Amino acid sequence: MDLYEYQAKDLFAAHGVPVLPGSNVTTPEDAEAAAAEIGAAVVVKAQVKTGGRGKAGGVKLASTPQEAKEKAEAILGLDIKGHIVHQVLVTVASDIAEEYYFSFLLDRANRKFLAMCSAEGGMEIEQLAVERPDALARIPIDPVDGVDKAKALEIANAGKIPAAVADKAADVIVKLWDTFVGEDATLVEVNPLVRDPQDNVIALDGKVTLDENAGFRHPGHAALVDKRAEDPLEAKAKAKDLNYVKLDGEVGIIGNGAGLVMSTLDVVAYAGEKHKGVKPANFLDIGGGASAEVMAAGLDVILGDPDVRSVFVNVFGGITACDAVATGIVEALKILGEQATKPLVVRLDGNAVEEGRRILEEANHPLVTLVGTMDDAADKAAELAAAGV
Ligand SMILES: Nc1ncnc2c1ncn2[C@@H]1O[C@H](COP(=O)(O)OP(=O)(O)OP(=O)(O)O)[C@@H](O)[C@H]1O
Ligand SMILES: [Mg+2]
Repeated sequence: MDLYEYQAKDLFAAHGVPVLPGSNVTTPEDAEAAAAEIGAAVVVKAQVKTGGRGKAGGVKLASTPQEAKEKAEAILGLDIKGHIVHQVLVTVASDIAEEYYFSFLLDRANRKFLAMCSAEGGMEIEQLAVERPDALARIPIDPVDGVDKAKALEIANAGKIPAAVADKAADVIVKLWDTFVGEDATLVEVNPLVRDPQDNVIALDGKVTLDENAGFRHPGHAALVDKRAEDPLEAKAKAKDLNYVKLDGEVGIIGNGAGLVMSTLDVVAYAGEKHKGVKPANFLDIGGGASAEVMAAGLDVILGDPDVRSVFVNVFGGITACDAVATGIVEALKILGEQATKPLVVRLDGNAVEEGRRILEEANHPLVTLVGTMDDAADKAAELAAAGV
């Protein structure tokens, strides 16, 4: 889960990383009031989960509350790379002597963490990384050893942070490491990390990605979810503990096992080429124990998607045998009753397949078509979806 800058900086503050005070607001009037409360020059900053806000006109200086209101008016509603600005951070404007770049991230390929540091931070960092990669130090971090003050100094020196502030920068780096590990983040990035004229080192910006798999260790992280940006179907699926991702096609997909569902997406996309280009509408893995309740919950989410024209249920019976899955489908259709309105193509194989097919044939539900192979079922589901387009 990516955080907004203001949320990232709240986490920084909780771990002792120096940040400037500010308020996150949603209206120009509140921006004016926030600036008045700060009582000095402020910066009004678009809160969107994408980079390059400054260059897109989403970061503006305001010397009076009236000006803060005007700047907020201009920024709210902006479209920055497809992200509409609904909120702005009004924060103290800092005098800046120098801008540095700093980040911790997960380096999957090397099974380590990576620190990146440069004395030449700021809005041109992407260009710097391409044109002069040597100016951006990359220091591997052993996950067991972590980052102590000595390691932090090594990082600061490698990034050519000036000697006068290297010690302060190292203190900040240790606290950013505390944030990274303590919050189970996969990314902590500060650009710019600034040096002010009094040689303070402050995080002026913050980008944090939290590892959702570690969410159970952080009850507080749930409050950071942006309800407005969350897809309503994904939210519904999450509430039912389903592994669901909304896609933009027309064929609803239910399968058991992530690998099977992934390959189902492929065969449906391929089959769709012959049927008006229809595509998978979602990823949904109902996992091993496909009880009637889980099947009903899955069908409920998928049938609630107005883009869905047909549903492909692709199950390979393993520990949960096909007869249990077939019963699950029949029961699910009973539970859903009139809510079930779209054609279902079912392909069963594996453990107890004969029994499973018999159960579905006997139930003889008008919406259900039983197809023998995965390719034929994908073709049928795509055909039915195309008929409804
Ligand atoms: N509080 C502040 N006081 C003074 N200047 C600021 C402040 N916040 C940001 N700036 C200036 O605006 C520039 C852009 O701000 P920021 O880094 O937050 O956005 P961005 O880099 O454009 O967005 P992103 O990091 O998402 O790409 C900074 O490099 C800095 O020069
Ligand atoms: Mg930035």
